[in-house]
Amino acid sequence: CGIIGILGKEPAAPRLVDALRRLEYRGYDSAGVATLEGGVLTRRRAEGKLASLDRKLGAEPLYGTSGIGHTRWATHGAPVERNAHPHMAGAVAIVHNGIIENFRELREELEKEGETFESQTDSEVVAHLINRELQRGADPVAAVHASLARLTGAFALAILFSGRDDLMIGARRGSPLAVGYGKGEMFLGSDAMALAPFTDRVTFLDEGDWAVLSHDGVTIHDESGAEVKRPIVRTAVSALLIDKGNHRHFMAKEIHEQPEVISRTLAHYVRFDSNSIELPGGGLPFDKLSKLTITACGTAFYAALTAKYWFERYAKLPVDVDIASEFRYRESPLPKDGLAVFVSQSGETADTLASLRYCRDNGQLIASVVNVPESSIARESDAVLQTLAGPEIGVASTKAFTCQLSVLACMAIAAGRKRGVLSAADEAELVSALVQVPRLMADVLKREDEFDALAQTLAKAPLVLYLGRGSSYPLALEGALKLKEISYLHAEGFAAGELKHGPIALIDETVPVIALAPKDALFEKTVSNLQEVAARGGKLVVFSDAPEAQAAVKAQANFVLPMAHSLVNPILYAVPIQLLAYHTAVAMGTDVDQPRNLAKSVTVE
Ligand code: G6P
Repeated sequence: CGIIGILGKEPAAPRLVDALRRLEYRGYDSAGVATLEGGVLTRRRAEGKLASLDRKLGAEPLYGTSGIGHTRWATHGAPVERNAHPHMAGAVAIVHNGIIENFRELREELEKEGETFESQTDSEVVAHLINRELQRGADPVAAVHASLARLTGAFALAILFSGRDDLMIGARRGSPLAVGYGKGEMFLGSDAMALAPFTDRVTFLDEGDWAVLSHDGVTIHDESGAEVKRPIVRTAVSALLIDKGNHRHFMAKEIHEQPEVISRTLAHYVRFDSNSIELPGGGLPFDKLSKLTITACGTAFYAALTAKYWFERYAKLPVDVDIASEFRYRESPLPKDGLAVFVSQSGETADTLASLRYCRDNGQLIASVVNVPESSIARESDAVLQTLAGPEIGVASTKAFTCQLSVLACMAIAAGRKRGVLSAADEAELVSALVQVPRLMADVLKREDEFDALAQTLAKAPLVLYLGRGSSYPLALEGALKLKEISYLHAEGFAAGELKHGPIALIDETVPVIALAPKDALFEKTVSNLQEVAARGGKLVVFSDAPEAQAAVKAQANFVLPMAHSLVNPILYAVPIQLLAYHTAVAMGTDVDQPRNLAKSVTVE
């Protein structure tokens, strides 16, 4: 979904719709705009595509020159007009991207004070919170500042106030937001693409920033409220409609987009009112399966391998997972009325598609986890579970991977429920762990400099090893793949417990060993394996949420990551390994977005 805001000199509604059109690629199923009509906030919202909103605006035009607009991908239930943005309360109208994690507590608190809510969204609570501050006597700026402090989650917001034609406030935490500069006009947008029809001069807000706009300019504050200066950059939004924002490479941009695109993806599968999972089309027949077959290539395969741990643990469903180029010729006997899942960013990978056809010809129900809904794999599937990562340009997959993990986690939880393994309370616990991922990930992204510093030492190493156990094992494989594909450094990933059966011979004092060791049920086992590495002089670097890990294994470096439920650790720990690979490649001067010999979409066998 996307956000746009205009403090302009001509009617805002047509311009808002125009900008929203440029955000269509993000996917949505309802849209809305609000403008200030002689000081009064008035909105039009419509289910479906922008054409429906356009028709509505044709019949009942809005003339205000200041306005906000939004495209929304339904979080749960029908994408009805009532749930579409902008949301309003008293003198406040807001549009929101992301997830407000604590909306239930806030909503209860506000309802107790007599506020009535008209939607089922998490977003509406923001409008009510700000409005309450206004009623208590705060001015709009103070009201927003106080309200932001109450919100937990990852979000971007654009806010208008009735009677205040010359004021718009934007805020970003986890989801991107840019300020655009016109001549006597100012803008807010989810990205430079949305702002391109109006201006090429933009400021990308930093994490935690909030911005107070008038027609003549903007004052930007950081999270503490202090006024800050952020650079104005000229964007070169190409005809392709995709640009790099503030980043040097698409890969960096895509790494940083993850809190937002994961929010968007989770919102598609999570029912926030009950903390439960709702798969599209009434779900899949997980309760009737004796085994699940998952097939994919490359990074998507590592997402699939992670999912094997989840399906087996949370749904007691045996999983046969393989790379597609092997699976398609393996002549694997398949269960009668089985389910086969295919994971693919592009939806065009030839081996994955051939495996799909093999499964279909052998009587399997076909489900796919794809990022491109018009792709061949999507078209040939009985059920499509979309990742809403948006276009991924960097050849090395990053945000598509974590979105695949997010969807697969939702599927495993749904399977656990359907198979009677998880109770409603278990499901709620797992779902609430999942919805915290965007926020925790935004915290990890803030520490980019630390990973950059470590990357400078990796760039000088002859070989880098990655270790993990359990659901961290596939991530060790993915970490090594990321590093080798973009930096051309040799890297290998191993199951921590398998090291002693051969690979430990590689270790000497020149070899960095990166351990992914969240404090889960296998932590102690991993620590023993790491001690074996330390004893042989390996340069251990530990990623863990257990601060004691470093001393336990005498690691040279220790990155203490946020504490999270063991379900979500593979999603969270993906960020440091991506940033490590990225900064190592930058240090080595390789072509990060288009590494040699690789293609983004491999349509040959
Ligand atoms: C190519 C890409 C990889 C990707 C793999 C699978 O090899 O370079 O990054 O993981 O294909 O692609 P898919 O589009 O099916 O996810």
